Amino acid sequence: MARRPMMAANWKMNKTVTEAQNYTAALLPRAADAEGVDVAVFVPFTCLHEVGRMAEDSSVIAGAQNFYYEDSGAFTGEISVPMLEDVGARAVLVGHSERREVFGENDALVARKTKRAVEAGLLPVVCVGETKEERDAGGMWEKVSGQVRRVLEELGELGGGDIVFAYEPIWAIGTGDTATPEDAQDAIGRIRELLREERGGDFADGVRILYGGSVKPANVAEIMAQDDVDGALVGGASLEVDSFVQLVEGAGNSGEDA
Ligand code: 13P
Repeated sequence: MARRPMMAANWKMNKTVTEAQNYTAALLPRAADAEGVDVAVFVPFTCLHEVGRMAEDSSVIAGAQNFYYEDSGAFTGEISVPMLEDVGARAVLVGHSERREVFGENDALVARKTKRAVEAGLLPVVCVGETKEERDAGGMWEKVSGQVRRVLEELGELGGGDIVFAYEPIWAIGTGDTATPEDAQDAIGRIRELLREERGGDFADGVRILYGGSVKPANVAEIMAQDDVDGALVGGASLEVDSFVQLVEGAGNSGEDA
């Protein structure tokens, strides 16, 4: 089954509203030329209203980097799904390793948030990945499969086209130390096989799985050329619009939408 590639920018804790406006104004016309690729930008909450408004009539998907699964109430500092929808978000990152490692989000919370996003029709990009220590100890698959299984358990019978996974090995994030294309394919191919075992072929073949970790214009083509890699989730190289557009063009040329 042909899956539509996705190129996603994760700005992390970067950019003021003015910087976000300038970036989005430059991105929109150039993303419109990118055929056959979903382009998403995951921006800080403070920029989301503006980016959501600017992207409203475009093909660019405005997304948030986090949210909480309750709709409203006494949850100081949190942002809910209705709040995100209100400002034009169409997607959200769930369980980014920085949320897990720095802010203590566990698999149960990540799974619950994923279910809430799917129910609301907000596209969750669920991040999984192992540390260097876990990989060196031969524990990559135990960690990653556990993270994926917990999400599947919580989702129950909910569908598959409306969820994206991102395999982001923690040791490759922000380090310049990209996984080899073979390592990316190995992990992502195994995730797809797990989805097939647990949920059947239609689900497994429909779910997009991205790679993240030091993706840049110089290495995007070889990563995207892997059979099971459907796109990339990009931090540092997404902060400059020229570099992100090169990545989008690289995804469009990968032939995965053929
Ligand atoms: P870098 O592209 O900066 O390594 O970050 C990857 C990432 O964490 C994207 O979510």
